[in-house]
Amino acid sequence: MEQFIIKGGNALSGEVEISGAKNAALALIAAAIMTDETVTIENLPDVRDVNVLLESIEQIGATVERLNPHCVKINGKTIKSTVVDYEHIKKIRASYYLLGALLGKFNEAEVALPGGCNIGSRPIDQHLKGFKALGADVEVEYGMIVTKADKLVGNHIYFDVVSVGATINVMLAAAMADGNTNIENAAKEPHVVDVANMLNKMGANIKGAGTDVIRIKGVKKLKGTDYSVIPDQIEAGTYMMAAAITKGNVLIKNVIPKHLEAISSKLTEIGCKVEEYDDAVRVIGAEKTKSTHVKTLPYPGFPTDMQPQMTVALALAEGTSVVTESIFENRFKYVDELGRMGAHIKVEGNTAIIEGIERYTGASIIAPDLRAGAALVVAGLAAEGYTTVEDIKYIERGYERMDEKLRSLGAQIERVNSEKDITKFKLKVV
Ligand code: UD1
Repeated sequence: MEQFIIKGGNALSGEVEISGAKNAALALIAAAIMTDETVTIENLPDVRDVNVLLESIEQIGATVERLNPHCVKINGKTIKSTVVDYEHIKKIRASYYLLGALLGKFNEAEVALPGGCNIGSRPIDQHLKGFKALGADVEVEYGMIVTKADKLVGNHIYFDVVSVGATINVMLAAAMADGNTNIENAAKEPHVVDVANMLNKMGANIKGAGTDVIRIKGVKKLKGTDYSVIPDQIEAGTYMMAAAITKGNVLIKNVIPKHLEAISSKLTEIGCKVEEYDDAVRVIGAEKTKSTHVKTLPYPGFPTDMQPQMTVALALAEGTSVVTESIFENRFKYVDELGRMGAHIKVEGNTAIIEGIERYTGASIIAPDLRAGAALVVAGLAAEGYTTVEDIKYIERGYERMDEKLRSLGAQIERVNSEKDITKFKLKVV
């Protein structure tokens, strides 16, 4: 029964160091197996999803040497199987990047179809459309996606929806295809650019990542490199919200402020102060915050992965706020939990209508997924009394040492395992 227990009410202050981006790291690990030479990845976040993907590539034969929690050496020369079974894929959706990486390198891959996910149905039809356009046969058999090609040949691919995963997957598969591939309506997220940058350092020829047209000239082979993962935009945004909601003053370090613009501008709109430095941002909370409207959109729009944290902040803003979720269909499940802390939020379809309240009150709540879980922790930091958050395994998929980082900012939070731990915590914080 691992939980976080939080005694809310402390304004956060001090400095916090942001880890490497989980979503970039996952794609970079898949890209790394495409060469027979060694790829060293630094600034790796030490989180569960990353560790599970490293196990998956080890399981198919790649050599994985963890030099320290934040640095790994990967060598794909020793891979002996192109089949990734359900045992691995069920734990982590992004193992679908192994489809693009294995298909690109070996012209075949067999990866279990990712299961459902609790933020709504998440089809991968665009990934498969891309592989087919490159000349691969794609079948779904016995729960596995089986893809094979005599050889991959570059093509013109137009995505019907903007998808981060499909853009990266097709980029991986096309990097060593014969001829040129153009991806249109590509996702522009920072981690798409990060993957293109690493592939280019490995010898690929990819231009336009970060715009909606990506042009890839296939190369014969890829080589080893050293690469450092970009900072995690969503982890940074989560600490920005934590500073804002506790009326704190926090310097968030090791970030790329440009990646945080959508978040910074919403915080400014509700009355907080955001100062930008070269590789840091400072957030200073406001005594009273104002309501606003937010709509999630692909980058550079407001990220869907920050929607729950933003809603948690708006629930304490004066007036009526409206949050529209336009990426995933079922991403307001945490709202009931927040209601147990006193929030006034009504969800209609993909819109949440939020009436600001004065304060949260602590409650026992359950993390429904990764980002919503983190958002509920943030709510607990501002709540009167004690909040316990269950199912923190979701949070630990993507946040490195969240309790420790928050404690260093003055929060009263602990990871507990038993009633005894809870009593001990309560005695300590009184
Ligand atoms: C990635 C992120 C996730 C983030 C999301 C949106 C990783 C590992 N995960 O997920 O944290 O919330 O981007 O920023 O990087 N879609 C289709 N067909 C497809 C693919 C996607 O219809 O083949 C739809 C999805 O249902 C969704 C939208 O496109 O509505 C965007 O999804 P996508 O960008 O692909 O998300 P992921 O890559 O799965």
